[in-house]
Parts: sequence; structure tokens; C-alpha cells
Amino acid sequence: MDSASEANIIKVDRWNPDAGVIKRAGSILKSGGLVAFPTDTVYGLGANGLVPAAIRKIFIAKGRPSDNPLILHLAKTKDAESLAEVDARAVEVMAAFWPGPLTIVLKARRRVPADVTAGLSTVALRMPDHPVALALIEAAGCPVAAPSANRSGRPSPTDAEAVAADLGNKVDLVLDAGCVDIGLESTVIDLTGPKVLLLRPGGTTVERLEAFFGELLETPDYDSKKRSPGTRYKHYAPSVPVCVWKAGERLDDSIDPAASGFLGVSSPPAAFARTILFESEENYARGVFSGFRQLEAEGLNIVAEWPRPLGIGLALRDRIKRASQL
Ligand code: TXA
Ligand code: MG
Repeated sequence: MDSASEANIIKVDRWNPDAGVIKRAGSILKSGGLVAFPTDTVYGLGANGLVPAAIRKIFIAKGRPSDNPLILHLAKTKDAESLAEVDARAVEVMAAFWPGPLTIVLKARRRVPADVTAGLSTVALRMPDHPVALALIEAAGCPVAAPSANRSGRPSPTDAEAVAADLGNKVDLVLDAGCVDIGLESTVIDLTGPKVLLLRPGGTTVERLEAFFGELLETPDYDSKKRSPGTRYKHYAPSVPVCVWKAGERLDDSIDPAASGFLGVSSPPAAFARTILFESEENYARGVFSGFRQLEAEGLNIVAEWPRPLGIGLALRDRIKRASQL
């Protein structure tokens, strides 16, 4: 039943979204429905973040484990104060990085439903840098809980077609503003303690964060993995195997190039059935999830180049690693 043709998709202009469409989408959210929408990073599956019954619909539509908490999306920095304990450091971080691909974890106020936090005492907040997302959140008049709009465990959607393919008629409306900019999810940092913890690498580079804080971020260890339960699961994975190739190395003998597709920035080490080459690591990041979906649709195994651990490459590594279960 949940085929793309049955999804209710409306095209909106990214820079100047139609006010009537945004109003309608905002009312759906306000009254407890689900709206998929574009952000700067990936498409999100939104629900009213203050209404438990609406939030539960997200978990059902995605098939998401209920112990994986959600991010609340805001249109104004000021709205953070009613949802979390916002200290001076958090104010500075928001001023420097919002709107943008950075999610911050703070101590939650009691009005945040346990369905959002999965029962944790903290809440994740973010303000996406996308005119459609901001207009929608404003129109909804509430914080919008939104995970990536894919079935749980699948590659995140970077266009409306991928949302429709995964969630089809499980959503009331899909706002289609074309391809996203970044293509990987936001960076998640924990600001609840004296040290800044990196819970998930993403669209905001670690280099920028470390320059801002003037200290090295603590990278996830077992304890911080517990803090960000989403990092425990197999994720971002197509239904075909994903293998990794490092530039300059020989292709593993177990790989049959004739039955595989290649994704990367370097010239491929063999004649693959399909090759998707990107001009930069930024483009690779933007195209990796749709590349996974395309090669999967063609019935090919996937060979993904292992990116350098610099800039967006760190987040790209994380996604490829978890898609391939390295
Ligand atoms: O770019 C993004 O962040 C996208 C767009 C739609 O905004 N959203 C997204 O949501 O990636 P999701 O649900 O796929 O990933 C949210 C991540 C998960 O790893 C989750 O465990 C973590 O944020 N998270 C949420 N609340 C948390 C909390 N209170 N403490 C620690 N981690 C939290
Ligand atoms: Mg996700």
C-alpha cells in the first residue's frame, strides 16, 4: 500500500514557499498529524513535539525502537528556554551555529514528553537552516519532533522521492523542495556537563566546533554511546552489502566489480557495473545516501570509497562504517 504514487507530495519553492501550503502543513502538525519536510541536512518526519500521541505515530511509521530519542526542531532560539535549561554557553553555541546542522543536548524541562526523550533527563534541540523547515515550524506553533524520514535502519532521505519510497502513505503530507544541501544528518553534541561531548559527527565539522570551544571534543566512548542511543543500531544501510575501498589499495578479492557499483571521489580500482564519481567530499556526502538507494535499485552490491577523516569526511566515514557494519 505504501507506494510512492500514493504519497501526498506537494512541491514548494525552497526560497519562497507558498503561504497556503505552509499553513495547511502547519495545521496538520498542530492537530497531531505527520508531515515530512526538507531541512539543510536530510528530510525529516515531523510531528507535534508536545503531543505524545503524535510523537508515537513517528515511531510506528518508521518502525523505530522506542528507546531512541528524537530531536525537537525550533524556528526561534528563544523557544529553547521553555524546553531545556539553557545556560550561557548554550546561548553562545546557538548564536554561533543556528540555524544550521548542529543539534545540542541539554537538560530537559518537565514539559518535554518522555516520548521525545525516551525517558532520558535530557533533550536534543536544533534549528535547521532551511526556509521551508523554518516556515513550517513557525506555522505549526510548536516544537517539531523529527527524525530522518526513512524507515528505521535505511539510508536517510535526501529528496522527497526517497521519503515516499520508504514511508509512502504513512505520512499525511510530504513537502518537496528538491534535494537537500548537506546530505548527512546534523552533528549532535552534549552540553550537559563541563566537557563538550561529540555524540554524532555530522554536518557541522568537528574542526569548526573545536575552534569555537578552544578544546578538543571528547569522542564517543561506551558511556556516551549510552547517552545517544541512536548510535547503537545498524543504520543508514541499503538492502545490498556495502564494502569499503581505501584509495591506493587493491580491491578485495571477494568483490566482483561486474556485480557492484562504486561510489567515491577517486578513480575506481576496477571496471564496475556502475560508477558514481563525486567532484569533492562535500558532493560525496550529499550524494552518498541517494547513491546507496540507486545502486540498491539496480541490484548491485556497493563499494564505497573510505573518505579522509577531515571536515565532512568524518561524518561520511561514520555513515559508511555503519552501513557496512565494519
Ligand atoms: O539532521 C538531523 O539531525 C535530522 C534532521 C531531520 O533534522 N534528524 C535526525 O534525527 O537525524 P534522528 O532521529 O535520525 O537522529 C537523532 C539522533 C539520534 O542519534 C539520537 O539518539 C540522538 O540524536 N538524540 C536525540 N535525543 C537525544 C538525547 N536526549 N540525548 C542524546 N542523544 C539524543
Ligand atoms: Mg535517522
